[in-house]
Amino acid sequence: MADMDGFKEASAYGFDQPQRNEAFFLKGNENRGWGVKNRLARIFNPKSGHTVMLACDHGFIMGPTSGLERVDLTINPLIEYADCLMCTRGILRSVIPPTMSKPVCLRSDGGTTILTDLNLNRVYDVEDVVRVNASAMAVMVACGDRASEQITTQNLVHTVDMGEKLGAPRCNPELFSLGIPVLGVTAVGKDMARDARYFGLATRVCAENGAAFVKTYYVDEGFEKVVAQCPVPIVIAGGKKLPEDKALELAYKAIQAGAAGVDMGRNVFQSAKPLAMMKAIAGVVHQGLTPQDAFQLYNDEK
Ligand code: 5RP
Repeated sequence: MADMDGFKEASAYGFDQPQRNEAFFLKGNENRGWGVKNRLARIFNPKSGHTVMLACDHGFIMGPTSGLERVDLTINPLIEYADCLMCTRGILRSVIPPTMSKPVCLRSDGGTTILTDLNLNRVYDVEDVVRVNASAMAVMVACGDRASEQITTQNLVHTVDMGEKLGAPRCNPELFSLGIPVLGVTAVGKDMARDARYFGLATRVCAENGAAFVKTYYVDEGFEKVVAQCPVPIVIAGGKKLPEDKALELAYKAIQAGAAGVDMGRNVFQSAKPLAMMKAIAGVVHQGLTPQDAFQLYNDEK
């Protein structure tokens, strides 16, 4: 029998305040389950609605990329300044401290490298994604690439299905869905035009197949159309290393055109001052700093 001595009668019912039902802050994700939304709200800052993802998954296709020779020395000190870490399970298990508290967007496909035919990948088992406590799964989709379009699109479909997989099918499915969102990553083949028409198609294909958010590349002409036609948030990759002021300008223009954040790698870890660059990018993404002010911040932090 519970001890009822000094029992305090419940009285704070808030009769004058109806219980609030808040709309979810990320576009296109209102109708997903609680787990998906909670994981997305760890990746995207609910205040700004944006994210700075730090990408260091390059080694799975490129080997020891410049700046990633020793992830423990170059990436680990930056993690606390990112909203999310994007990496492979190998790097996660071997180098990233399990005591870090940032959400992980796990690169969840692999199979080919820059030495052969890119993107003929297969996807990880979802159990392994759960084992490392990832908050999202990232899978490449190569629209328009004859050799790999079908397999990569099927990979995305399969990964979305796994993210929704039921842990206990005989029980209420809603309660046991794994609820792990998928990031569709648009891969661009050598022969494909890097324009708004292509990225519009590729991002839309990812979203139509169930991606909760999509990573693509910024283009100067028509990027606002790419964002508008994609029913879920878009984050941009940085691409090849640019001078710091140009990379900040790229991030600024993408955010102004409606992107929900960046998933940047080389423009951070190949920068002369990666930590200063992280802070300057966060200024652009979360505080709306202009490229000039952000570059000033970069120089002040150097
Ligand atoms: C490769 C990736 C990378 O993570 C992505 O390209 C981001 O890195 P960077 O800013 O260096 O382009 O998804 O498939």
